[in-house]
Parts: sequence; C-alpha cells; structure tokens
Amino acid sequence: MRIAFESPDQPEVIALIDELDAHQKPLYPAESHHGVDIATLLQPNVRFAVARDESGAAVGCAAVMFLDGYGELKRMFVLPSQRGQGLGRKLIAALEADARSRGCTVLRLETGPLQPEAIGLYAALGYVRRGPFGEYWNDPHSVFMEKTMTAMSDRYLPLDDTLFAYALDHGVREHPAQAALREATRSHPHAGMQISPDQGALMALLAKLVGARNTIEIGVFTGYSALSVALALPADGRVLACDINDDYVNIGKPHWAAAGVAHKIDLRLGPALQTLDACLAAGEAGRYDMAFIDADKAGYDGYYERCLSLLRSGGLIVVDNVLWSGRVARPAAADDRDTLALQALNDKIHGDERVDVAMLAISDGVTLARKR
Ligand SMILES: C[S@@+](CC[C@H](N)C(=O)[O-])C[C@H]1O[C@@H](n2cnc3c(N)ncnc32)[C@H](O)[C@@H]1O
Repeated sequence: MRIAFESPDQPEVIALIDELDAHQKPLYPAESHHGVDIATLLQPNVRFAVARDESGAAVGCAAVMFLDGYGELKRMFVLPSQRGQGLGRKLIAALEADARSRGCTVLRLETGPLQPEAIGLYAALGYVRRGPFGEYWNDPHSVFMEKTMTAMSDRYLPLDDTLFAYALDHGVREHPAQAALREATRSHPHAGMQISPDQGALMALLAKLVGARNTIEIGVFTGYSALSVALALPADGRVLACDINDDYVNIGKPHWAAAGVAHKIDLRLGPALQTLDACLAAGEAGRYDMAFIDADKAGYDGYYERCLSLLRSGGLIVVDNVLWSGRVARPAAADDRDTLALQALNDKIHGDERVDVAMLAISDGVTLARKR
C-alpha cells in the first residue's frame, strides 16, 4: 500500500469521492453536508493524499485544507473492501506529518454522529470533541473534533547534547581502539555513516545476549560496528564483513588490530548480495547467529532475505536507518528509491511471521528481527 500526495482531479479519485458522497448523503439532511468539491480540493491551500494498493488502484483518500491558524481534515474515505488494514490511520498520519512540516499543529474536522467508526478512529488517534469552528453552526448532525500536535513526540525526551553526552558516559564502555577509530573517522567526508557509540554498545550487548559466534555485517565503512561486535564475540568468533570500498575499510584495519580482534573480522570486498549468495551456495544456511544490515538501502530487502536464510532459528537481524531521518513516515517521491525501499521493508518486517520484531527509535531507527 502506498500513500502519496496527488491531484484529486483524476477519474478514479473522483470516483472515490463520489462513492463517499453516495455513502454520506442518505445519512444527513442536505444542509448538513459539508463535503467540498474537486475545484476546492484543487486550491493551493489543500494537500490531498491518495492511498493506492499493490496494483496501483486508488483505494482511499483524505485531504487537509489549511485555514486561518489550523488545518481541516476533509474527504477522508477508504473503500469498504479495503478497511481493517489501518489505511485510515496511515492516511491521517501522512497528513499530520505533512501539516507539521508546514508549521500547522492544529487539525480540526467535522463528521457526523451516524459514523461511529470514523469518530472512533479519530478519537483513537487523539482527536477530541469540540464545538463548531469556522463557518459551521451548532448542528445536531455534526460532530466536531480537534487534535493539537506537538512539534516533537512527547514520548521521548528531547535529547540535547548534554543529555546525550551523559547517556554515552553512563551507557557505553568503549575500548580505546573504538575511541581511536571514531577519532580517525571524524574528519572523513562520510563520517555521518558511522554508527554512534551507544548503538555500538547495544550491538555488542545483543551479540552476547544471543550467544553469537558467527555474525554477518553488511556495510563496514571504517569498521566501527564490526569492531564493536568483534570485541563482544568469543575468541573463535567471526564477523563476515561485507563492503565494496577498500579505502573506507583500510582506515579501520589498524584499529581492529590494536583491539586484538583483526583475526575475527573476515572481510569480503564486493557487492554484499554476491557474498551472501556465495555463502548460501556453500551450504552455510542456518550457520549464523546475528546479522547487521547497514549498506545501500535499495538492497536492504535482498540482504534481509539472505540473512534470514543464513541465520539459525533464534538468530537476530539488526537493521539500521529504518526511520531514515523521519522520511519513512511521510509520503515519498516516486524517485526516492531509498525511502521507498525502507518503507516497503518496514511494512514487510512488521507483518513477517518468520520473525519477532521490535523497532527502536534510537539513532536513525534500528529494527530488531529475531528469526523464529
Ligand atoms: C552506512 S555505511 C556503514 C557504516 C558502518 N556500519 C559503521 O559502523 O561505520 C554503508 C557502507 O555500505 C557499503 N556499501 C554500499 N553498497 C554496498 C554493497 N552493494 N555491498 C556491500 N557494501 C556496500 C559502503 O561502501 C559503506 O561503507
């Protein structure tokens, strides 16, 4: 299922809106109908979202009209045959994220008392009842609701530099070679690709928790995550480390040696998909305990599938960048392959019965998927 901002002026979208009207009109008297027409939805103050199924057919829509100090949700509709999949929630989440990114933090709506499913959905998403607003009057055929969105989630502490430094001071026991490797990477033009020390500590702990001996790493860069995991493995442990760029990895090698774990890191230079397929062809399915996926995003799905085959039951896949700086929660442009790939994989893993899953909102988002 894909949600994107599109023009409402398309035959199949107009058909959706006609079906919404056909559903609502018999419920209320004419003066209590407040559905806006296509011409209004085409105005520049309107954002119109369309949900499409795998075949590309439009199956749901919703809009926000930006008015004086608030946005109004309009024309929310999901085809009856497509209900029960959380599509309404996803449409509203996309519109809320879009509204927030435009500085609008108050969304209002008008619905009707004979639509208890819609009212229940809005209430579950944090909309509370209020009186009429704008040009609405106190109509018994109307239910008015409103949600005030905070600019940031209040479920997490705002992590300023002082608090983050405190968390690192108290949650990370870095080996001197890890600190030296971070220092050696600091001035690299792609230093931002390196995982953070708290994520390194988490991965080391996870490796110990799953009793890892053989692990896979897809995306080594200068080798901080490989070093973190190698330090946590037993003396005969091994990290099958995949990367395509020798220059990056050469920065890390002296630090692996300084930590005394170079012998545990089995570097394979070349496209990771080829390396993993070669492992499978060599009969290594089920032989690995943990895998870390942190390379090209378009390749993630292929890596995930190979890693699932290579892991034993109870093994753990750690997927990095699953929140992608927040971009996964907003409709992606058709040419934004990385965001689209991450959105598709996040959807897939969430529904994947082969794994137990938790998505952690740390760093750039980390998914833990334990093979059942
Ligand atoms: C985000 S960085 C990895 C960061 C690393 N885990 C760390 O802790 O510093 C991504 C790496 O993936 C590598 N990469 C990109 N495409 C690849 C591919 N097809 N196969 C293997 N590695 C690839 C890049 O060369 C880069 O070093």
